[in-house]
Parts: sequence; structure tokens; C-alpha cells
Amino acid sequence: MRLEGKVAVVTGGANGIGRACCERFAAEGADIVVADVLDGPGQEVVAAVEAVGRRAVFVRADAASPEDNERSMQRAVEELGGLDVLVTSAGISGKGYVSTDDTQAQLQRMAAGGSTFADPVQAFTELPLADWQAVLDVNLTGTLLALQSAARRMTSGGSIITLASIAAKQPEAGTPAYSVSKAGVWMLTKFAARSLAPLGIRVNAIGPGFIDTNMTAVVRATPTLQDRFMAQVPMARFGTPREIADTALFLASDESSYTTGEIFHVDGGFYTE
Ligand SMILES: NC(=O)c1ccc[n+]([C@@H]2O[C@H](COP(=O)([O-])OP(=O)(O)OC[C@H]3O[C@@H](n4cnc5c(N)ncnc54)[C@H](O)[C@@H]3O)[C@@H](O)[C@H]2O)c1
Repeated sequence: MRLEGKVAVVTGGANGIGRACCERFAAEGADIVVADVLDGPGQEVVAAVEAVGRRAVFVRADAASPEDNERSMQRAVEELGGLDVLVTSAGISGKGYVSTDDTQAQLQRMAAGGSTFADPVQAFTELPLADWQAVLDVNLTGTLLALQSAARRMTSGGSIITLASIAAKQPEAGTPAYSVSKAGVWMLTKFAARSLAPLGIRVNAIGPGFIDTNMTAVVRATPTLQDRFMAQVPMARFGTPREIADTALFLASDESSYTTGEIFHVDGGFYTE
């Protein structure tokens, strides 16, 4: 029970890595605010948390909205009695990304928007400004807004875990906006760690490699892409959301009490060069 009596807010908590964090934290004694744009999956996570005897609240919240972030954090304080841990897992891989396990729908949406994997020159030179902006709004500005809203309410210190990526340090296939947003998340994490240390708030990033979630379903469904991605991973497999949640648990708990401003790559050996 490493998080007994703690309250955690998880943005993007309805699916994938965020959902695994909600379930892992609840199993360790935390009460959870699940903040996401998807009601159905969000309510499922609430039920999963309640099934292990913890309290949970779903807040329909867009990570890119200052007001929605304020609402999520305030609900933690008012309904669950405080705020100790924040995980910022809300993220998109490109404009119009919707987290779903319907791979065909994702493939169709990508085809309609022009595949960002097909031609790297075109993906860069013809990237629409709206696509760039949409990714930065959710991934980077959304992380800033959540950190601000949470830090204002972490009255007894706390632990914040951001979701960067291996793409924070090395350009990844797909839109440049994604890699740039994650590089921004990593710098924001370091900046926030310094700024919030006087309040007893630690801030660390996780930089996952290729994880088995809705976000990478299209890669697994496209053999050429899957081979290209797996060739970069010595362990030659996708990671599981649970493997990221285990690292998040360490960072959320007192076991990491002297750790702040760090990035943890959970990537099957991607960074071994
Ligand atoms: N899967 C990977 O391989 C991988 C690798 C590195 C980093 N990441 C990062 O991890 C985080 C979680 O991704 P995932 O793989 O679990 O994807 P996912 O699609 O399974 O989950 C993302 C969640 O974020 C939510 N979301 C999207 N836009 C939102 C918004 N505007 N407001 C609130 N919620 C929103 C989605 O509804 C979904 O529930 C993302 O930031 C992603 O960039 C993922």
C-alpha cells in the first residue's frame, strides 16, 4: 500500500498508460480522479478503481483547456480530500487522433488526413499549421496547464509525473509536432522541478518507448512499420502499459523522495547507443 491515503489525478486516464496508472495506484491505496475526453472508457476506469475498494471520480476534461484542468484538480480537493499525485498522460499522436481499439477506424482516419509515415519530406514541408498547433495544444500546453492547476493545490507537497517519450530526444516517425511537443514536455519537467522544489513538489518525466496501447495500434497492424520500429528495440517487443505504471508508481511514492527533474526511459533498451 505505497500510496495509502493519497489522492491522484490522471489526465488521459481513460485508456492505455493513464488507465494502467489509475488501476496500479488504486491497488496501492490511492483515490483517483480520472480526467479524459472519453466518457465511456472513463467510467469503466472508475468502476475498476471502485472494484478494489478505492474512491474514483470521472471528470470530462479537455487537457488543452485551462478551465477543465482547474475543474479536475478542484474535484480532487473537494470530493476526495486533497491532491498528492498528478500524472499527465493525456496525449495525441496527431491532429484528430481519437483513442480507440478500432484499428480500422484509425487507419481510415490516417488515410483521410494524409499518412504522416509515407513521405518524410512531405510530412515536414507540407505540415499544416493547424496540425502542428493541435498536437502542441494537447501534449505540451496541456501538460503546463495541468502542472499549474495541480501545483496550486498540492498544499502538503506532492509528486508530478509527466509523459514524455523516446521522441523527446530523437526524432520519431510521424509528425514533427509530436517529437517537438515531447521535447517541450521534458524541458517543462526540468523547469517545473526547479520551480516547485521549494513547495515540496517533485516533478519527473517518463520517456516510454513503444508501448502496446491504442496509440500504437496502427503500427502493430502495419507489418513494415512494426518491423521498422522493432528493429530499434533490443528487447524486440512492445512494452505494456503496466510496465510504465510500475515506474510511475515508484515516482509517485516516497521511494523516490530524493528524485526530481529526471527522465526515466522505459524503452526495452532503445537508448543503448
Ligand atoms: N504508446 C506509446 O508507445 C507511447 C510512447 C511514448 C509516449 N507516450 C505518451 O503516453 C501518453 C499516453 O498515451 P497512450 O499510449 O496511453 O495512448 P492512449 O490513446 O491509449 O491514451 C491516451 C488518452 O488520452 C486521452 N486524451 C487525448 N486527448 C485528450 C485531451 N485533449 N484531453 C484529455 N484527454 C485526452 C485519450 O482519450 C486517451 O484516453 C501520451 O502522452 C503519449 O504521447 C505513448
